[in-house]
Amino acid sequence: MSKILFTKEQIQKRVGELAAQIARDYDGKPLILVSVLKGSFIFASDLLRAMYEQGKSDVIIDFLTVASYGVRTQSSKAPRIVCDLTIDIQEKHVLLIDDIFDTGHTLKFVQEHLLQKQPASLKTLVLLEKPARREVEVKIDYVGFTLEGSPWVEGYGLDSAELGRGRPDIVVK
Ligand code: IMP
Ligand code: MG
Repeated sequence: MSKILFTKEQIQKRVGELAAQIARDYDGKPLILVSVLKGSFIFASDLLRAMYEQGKSDVIIDFLTVASYGVRTQSSKAPRIVCDLTIDIQEKHVLLIDDIFDTGHTLKFVQEHLLQKQPASLKTLVLLEKPARREVEVKIDYVGFTLEGSPWVEGYGLDSAELGRGRPDIVVK
């Protein structure tokens, strides 16, 4: 059996808290969510809906596909954009959303890629962080949960060899 780290209820509660905080921080400022595929698509959808329910409706979403891992748990350290944004983010407020801050190479790369497009502001939200695995410094503005040690986790969008993304909870594999 897999060990449950965060239940569906804990995740939904945390997503609601993050949505409220982000809605407050961007009050009166239209926001573009940039969700990194595939890992963050469920988190980003729930966050978008939670913000809407809390009255933050001036939000649009776009997606970016980054390939960063060739092998199961090893970072290739050479991320690349497989599919870029479809909208122009110049002079817009952008919130980058990823599933997990592991070594940090992917987020650092994606932040640099987005900054080249000259947004009015860029902040970063991750559902999970694994401080024990950090290899590069990256500025993260919002974090859902912090993991102790270096477990491989699955569920709520995160996969093991592409499987498990549909789990409503987050487990250690
Ligand atoms: P980083 O570049 O090492 O920070 O991590 C890049 C990507 O690896 C993350 O965005 C995830 O998609 C994936 N990843 C890292 N750790 C895990 C994990 O424990 N489970 C599932 N995917 C992970
Ligand atoms: Mg990812």
